[in-house]
Amino acid sequence: MKLKNFLYTGAAAVALFAMASCGDSKGQGNGEMHAFVDDLMAKMTLEEKLGQLNLPASDDIVTGQAQSSNIGSMVAKGQVGGVFNIKGVEKIRDLQRVAVEESRLGIPLLFGMDVIHGYETVFPIPLALSCSWDTVAIERTARIAATEASASGICWTFSPMVDICRDPRWGRASEGSGEDPFLGAAIARAMVHGYQGDNMENNNEIMACVKHFALYGAPEAGRDYNTVDMSRQRMFNEYFEPYKAGAEAGAGSFMTSFNTVDGVPATANRWLLTDVLRGMWGWDGFVVTDYTAISEMIAHGLGDLQQVSALALKAGTDMDMVADGFNGTLAQSLEEGKVDLGQIDAAVRRILEAKYKLGLFQDPYKYINVDREKNEVYTDANRDEARKIATETFVLLKNEGNVLPLKKGGRIAVVGPLGDTRSNMPGTWSVAAAFDKYKSLYEGIRDAVGNNGTVTYAKGTNLVSDPELEANATMFGREMRDNRSEAALLAEALQVARNSDVIIAAMGESSEFSGESSSRSDISLPENQKALLKALVATGKPVVMLNFSGRATIMSWESENVPAILNVWFGGSEAADAIADVVFGDVCPSGKLTCTMPRNMGQIPIYYNHFNTGRPKAQDVKFEKFRTGYIDSPNSPLYPFGYGLSYTTFEYSDFALSSTEMTADGTITASVKVTNTGSRDADEIVQFYLRDLVGSSARPVKELKGFNRINLKAGESKVVEFVITADLLKYYNFELEYVAEPGEFVAMVGPDSENVQSLNFTLK
Ligand code: BGC
Repeated sequence: MKLKNFLYTGAAAVALFAMASCGDSKGQGNGEMHAFVDDLMAKMTLEEKLGQLNLPASDDIVTGQAQSSNIGSMVAKGQVGGVFNIKGVEKIRDLQRVAVEESRLGIPLLFGMDVIHGYETVFPIPLALSCSWDTVAIERTARIAATEASASGICWTFSPMVDICRDPRWGRASEGSGEDPFLGAAIARAMVHGYQGDNMENNNEIMACVKHFALYGAPEAGRDYNTVDMSRQRMFNEYFEPYKAGAEAGAGSFMTSFNTVDGVPATANRWLLTDVLRGMWGWDGFVVTDYTAISEMIAHGLGDLQQVSALALKAGTDMDMVADGFNGTLAQSLEEGKVDLGQIDAAVRRILEAKYKLGLFQDPYKYINVDREKNEVYTDANRDEARKIATETFVLLKNEGNVLPLKKGGRIAVVGPLGDTRSNMPGTWSVAAAFDKYKSLYEGIRDAVGNNGTVTYAKGTNLVSDPELEANATMFGREMRDNRSEAALLAEALQVARNSDVIIAAMGESSEFSGESSSRSDISLPENQKALLKALVATGKPVVMLNFSGRATIMSWESENVPAILNVWFGGSEAADAIADVVFGDVCPSGKLTCTMPRNMGQIPIYYNHFNTGRPKAQDVKFEKFRTGYIDSPNSPLYPFGYGLSYTTFEYSDFALSSTEMTADGTITASVKVTNTGSRDADEIVQFYLRDLVGSSARPVKELKGFNRINLKAGESKVVEFVITADLLKYYNFELEYVAEPGEFVAMVGPDSENVQSLNFTLK
């Protein structure tokens, strides 16, 4: 390793540095790291150890004043292990300098941030990204996000968020990869690798944090932070896979969730953090809490701050985000014998190891480079990739009479509350976004049409009629209220609409209508927007509805009455151009839903991989007495998991299995021919499902077990294969053993979860 000439002074610091540099931290095994950390820990006081477990937010840091800030003075005393959500390399350098020069042992800080779907180049929200089913592209988004964030001094991101969600009332559905554990696990692996690279050796590789462990996406009634209660079989088979995949991919850290898991809050749940995460999955990173999750356990009813902090430590939590429970109470608990030094040391060790693996002991300024910040953030190349990836995430739900794609010309009206708002393009959790740099939809459409036609805009209505609700849904600089009367807004919109050849209706949610603390009790299009849409349809002009959303939307009326619906989610900083690319047909839509779209609120939670029950009812039968269902609604969703149209058509044929029998050590290859039967080149996402017909426990009616995104030229055919191994047939039985039980299985293939062809085979 080369010695760097950085500002790392002080006797103790020099000694530390010499040790950390006696071998490359990477590739020489863990022996050197352990020796280094042993040596460092032998020098640490209890206060310094507890300091490493402390993660405050950065609120009071101003450039050039790190030293005199409240956090700066704590850092100087060795009372802080890391800081999060500081933006800007100068501020980060200042604070790191305090840590390495002013504190007694000079231990560098971790700098974390919620880099959830890009940094200043913002990618589509994670739910949208998952609809691309393109794990290579998703890995690229994480790679670019890491490059930009690290250029700004960040070495740790609180991502990927891998919580499975089957309840779109929950606002944080927007931050995850939808309802499926198999796809979710593939995306978790891709993102961890994208952020961390192979070993976090380079200065553009940052540490990932898999969150929120565990089950945060299953709160009762879809209400954020609410109780979660589920069987262990369901945890392991339907919710844990993405976390496990993140652990196996080597994520450096995990974040606990706010909710209870089997009655005990995750942050104090020893079974979860120690037995499952570290024991069963063999993971060796460190666990940070979510924001104030330790002190929140007082409200959960687990005791006072001292008590809940001790519980958290003993459960396997290593770092305390903001609650000041570890720093504030563990010394007393140690004195009173409520925790032991071994437990504190284990947590300190894991955090120091993370810093070692990041290379911060070798060079605490590894991520500090003003030139990089100037040259590597929001570059044209990154923006081009963001635009291309965004086009893959839009889901075409309806396209009657091939209204889409539109001609780039004529008179186009852009109407709706999402039509001309820059700040609402990136979506929730875009903490490093620069809103004024991004285009609104109207601007994107206008740029695409250029001099070939006219584009006019009218808002038509507000996001919602109720100003208080709108204020709650447009926080953090994303206000969009228009205070003219509803009648005036509508009159203007109708005039614009009547003078057009086609109407693009920009409807749906604002960025902060989903995301944290944005659960909704009704996920339909707001009534005032629906009224506008009805008026637009009534003009007789063709209407293309763009649905901006951070979750599934109920669009039963819309699906019957609006000719074309493209779900555009929140497409990131380049969303406007990407939408124009698809709307005008430069790119064929190819996204497929990763969350089921319900018909009505009563169907929620609704998901494709459900059990059969003892009284199943055919999906398309409306009502049958004494069969599982509703008296007033079909069971089937409006749009199923995996669904999405294209501007071309595909035919699936020649589905075959290489054998109808397999042994536990054998394989069967399933193959299907997919043909592009339309006139445009396009991508198709081929989906493969399995059903275990007989098990010792009830098994889902189908489970995704393979997918392949392929490109087909017009008229072209490709044969797509999926290899069935015994591993693919395994599940966690009642004893939580991971087993493939002999018997009959069904293999299914198709363009979505409902429209499948099937063949049976037997596992001997
Ligand atoms: C969220 C986390 C986030 C953390 C830090 C919490 O409120 O639940 O997802 O990483 O804040 O900003």
